[in-house]
Amino acid sequence: MTSTYGNVYTLWLGHTPVVVVNGYQDVKEVLITRSEDFAERPIPNFLQDLIQDAQGILFSNGHPWKQQRRFSLMTLRNLGLGKTILEDSIRQEASVLIEAFARENGKPIDPSNLLLAAINNVIASMLFGHSFTSEEDTFRHLIDGSKAMDEFNGKAWARLYDAFPMVMKPLQPILQRTILALSHWKLLQRLIENEIREHQKNGVPEEPRDFIDSYLAQVEKCKDDPSSTFTETNMVQVIMELFIAGSDTSAIALRWAFLYMLEYPEIQEQVQQELDTVLGPSHVICYEDQKILPLTNAVLHETQRFSSLSAVGVMHKSSKNTSVKGMSLSKGIMILPNIYSVHYDPKQWETPYKFNPGHFLDKDGNFVKKDAFLLFSGGIRVCLGEKMARTTLFILFASLLRAFRFQLPEGVKEINREAILGLALTPHPYKLCAIPR
Ligand code: HEM
Repeated sequence: MTSTYGNVYTLWLGHTPVVVVNGYQDVKEVLITRSEDFAERPIPNFLQDLIQDAQGILFSNGHPWKQQRRFSLMTLRNLGLGKTILEDSIRQEASVLIEAFARENGKPIDPSNLLLAAINNVIASMLFGHSFTSEEDTFRHLIDGSKAMDEFNGKAWARLYDAFPMVMKPLQPILQRTILALSHWKLLQRLIENEIREHQKNGVPEEPRDFIDSYLAQVEKCKDDPSSTFTETNMVQVIMELFIAGSDTSAIALRWAFLYMLEYPEIQEQVQQELDTVLGPSHVICYEDQKILPLTNAVLHETQRFSSLSAVGVMHKSSKNTSVKGMSLSKGIMILPNIYSVHYDPKQWETPYKFNPGHFLDKDGNFVKKDAFLLFSGGIRVCLGEKMARTTLFILFASLLRAFRFQLPEGVKEINREAILGLALTPHPYKLCAIPR
């Protein structure tokens, strides 16, 4: 498309124009230089009908978005301070994963459910103050729910609902029931409401243990403030969104990371050599270790650039009359900053179409941060869970590679590297053998 139409062009979704922006320089203008001008989020009709008046972060704008985002960011940051709740729960999940892989005795296994379970538990620990065991029903609902949501999001008729709301609106009750059955949205909602009830039953402690404690305290603190958007309905919505935005994405990132380790065994071995030399077997892996593990860090980043799971990114909307690349855009225009195009921009990457951890290393082997690495997007709508995701992915990746050599099952010569298209780019299911080291 860009070779014919240039870096900025308009696509029509039904009657709605969407301005697609490609390449690092122009995406940077939208996300970072003019961040305020493009800070709004268009709310798709089917979602607005589903969430009704609730105001969270991912699907809200203006004052409620600012309040909910600022509070959630600060609360997650405080809970992660001193490497306590967050890093402890990640290490706990790393041990559970290592045990689960070890039980397979090197037999072929599809890692996707195990990885998703680990991620869900890390998020649950931050939000609810506890994790789930794999036997619990709620745990299975969480797994099924996030999978079904992802499938639904990729479905063409969700797009139809958006493009033709007048036609689809009368069908809404039927669709809604289908959506609910498909997505487990209600189940997730009920699970969150139950967790809130449990917290309320025990009373909110002085020192918040988790996100729900902090939010309940905030509702109480702001109850007489007319500008407050801190309500129980919004608390449920925010927690839903943190789950929806955080669980599948992080699990998919890990599935890609291990897929590339199967594809490039020599790179896997180099990472293991670094882990063995620098850390030793009994070292407790923490996020800070990325500073002394440049190769491991670079390889993990390259798996994320190369897979570019954020796909074309998340839609934004202009909040006022503005411009991009000198072209005028009126207020309310939908805009898609194409993150995938940034991760494959030939002006930014030496070998964009080749898996090359050197993209994130200097000539002396030090890790180099790249501005054109935009997995979590950028600017004022940047992913709220970036730090949490980076910490989780690094600790789980390093812990598992220290414990196992991952290889393809016998007789399998190659792995499907094509992505399944959806809101996120997902790998096809694959099996690996985890051989204890
Ligand atoms: C590898 C994992 C992840 C990736 C690749 C990812 C990527 C993204 C991207 C591309 C956006 C859109 C930003 C924009 O509008 O330009 C986003 C938004 C968001 N992410 Fe993430 N994310 C990840 C993990 C997480 C986690 C762990 C959480 C929280 C538990 C989270 C919470 C959110 C929220 C709440 C938003 C909406 C921000 C807003 O609209 O202001 N994400 N993420």
